[in-house]
Amino acid sequence: ALRGVVALDGPSGTGKTTVARMLAAELGAGFLDTGAMYRVVALSALREGVDLADADAVAALARRVQVGIGTDPGQSRVLLDGDDVAEQIRTEPVNVAVSPVSAVPEVRRLLVAGQREIIASVLGSAGGIVVDGRDIGTVVAPDAPLKVFLTASAEVRAARRTAQDSAAGRQADTEAVLASVRRRDELDTTRATSPLRAADDAEVLDTSELTIDQVVAALSELA
Ligand code: C5P
Repeated sequence: ALRGVVALDGPSGTGKTTVARMLAAELGAGFLDTGAMYRVVALSALREGVDLADADAVAALARRVQVGIGTDPGQSRVLLDGDDVAEQIRTEPVNVAVSPVSAVPEVRRLLVAGQREIIASVLGSAGGIVVDGRDIGTVVAPDAPLKVFLTASAEVRAARRTAQDSAAGRQADTEAVLASVRRRDELDTTRATSPLRAADDAEVLDTSELTIDQVVAALSELA
């Protein structure tokens, strides 16, 4: 069984969350999707009409909301003040709102503290956890024995998201999705607090030409 933390970072559309969940199930480890936590705060901001450009208002909201998240790779429980919002956090308005929300230092401080608590608690019981995010190897768990940074070209990532959207019955326009992928990359890699980047000691894995199963196999070998 896996001991310790596997830090899995990279931009969206690399299959990161799917792969992290499958790897955790295979290794009998816990699984933490940190992006879902930022999405819960973004959803709450949208529902409460908080001005996303007002960092103080977003920070105040983040202090009020209760973000609940499961760590069982077999089921995703994502709670906003006790209500399951696993589906609501995957909508386009949340895709757009999550970047400015996650750029607020106080939001990151609060969620990173929560993530470290969850990781410590899972390590205490299961012994191992796969953590999926943007800053896991650099900030959340810098001592993780295995760090992997997944990449793929913007075109491949946009195509994957378009396929995911149509499979979920959502209208998807490839050009618009590519523009959205690029906009989010730009915001995530240039923000002042914890920009998206590979840790110096991370293994970089380009998934452009790989299937999900091939990525899981490669990670499993590394783990
Ligand atoms: O992984 P996912 O696409 O759900 O993440 C949504 C957004 O949350 C990312 O685009 C990024 O802005 C933010 N995020 C972050 N740090 C993390 C995980 C996600 O800033 N550890």
